Amino acid sequence: MSSDPRQAPEYPIPEAPERDGIGEDDNPIPLWFNVGFWGLMVFGLLYILYYVGSGWTAASVYAAEVEQLEARYAAVRESLPKQNPYHGDQAAIAEGKQVFDTICSVCHLPTGQGLVGPSLVDPYWKYGSDDESLFTSVSEGRPLGMPPWGAQLGSEKIWKALAYVETLPKKQESGVGAPDYVPPKPPGS
Ligand code: HEC
Repeated sequence: MSSDPRQAPEYPIPEAPERDGIGEDDNPIPLWFNVGFWGLMVFGLLYILYYVGSGWTAASVYAAEVEQLEARYAAVRESLPKQNPYHGDQAAIAEGKQVFDTICSVCHLPTGQGLVGPSLVDPYWKYGSDDESLFTSVSEGRPLGMPPWGAQLGSEKIWKALAYVETLPKKQESGVGAPDYVPPKPPGS
């Protein structure tokens, strides 16, 4: 037989079943392999069909979870008081003052007249001045820079801070944030 590998005959060669003591047989593929192979094919196909067809996708699982949580939070929101329980309650107002002076005054000034945030002592309320609207403004925040405080303060402290805001001396004219607010002229202009 030629020793040139290019001349090497294809296996299996009936007349040369053995080389260097190593034989090669053309056995049929074992049943266990075929069962596993085709089984996986079928499984894969069913899996894809089920994944696409049943709505069992990451996006729809996520959407379902969001819906569940929304329902849960809606129930919690429903159960919250709609009115400030602390109107005129001196002890609560004192606590509210602390919250207001530490957190809110940074943007609304200690007098509530507004700086980065709008005035809280003028007649104009962008998002409403009833208890529920005020609570929502503070608890959930408002888009133009009012952060949500619900998680950090909890509803008690928010109601108390709002009870304190009510006691701040009010202004008659429109303040910071009102559409018809006229900023004071800088001195010397
Ligand atoms: C980081 C600055 C910042 C802090 C801190 C902040 N606010 Fe505000 N607040 C704003 C801004 C800005 C707006 C206006 C948001 C808008 O117009 O969408 C606003 C709006 C509001 C409104 C709605 C006013 C309206 O006209 O409807 C209320 C009420 C309010 N804040 C109360 C509070 C209270 C109470 C606190 C403290 C717990 C607080 N804010 C802390 C920046 C702040």
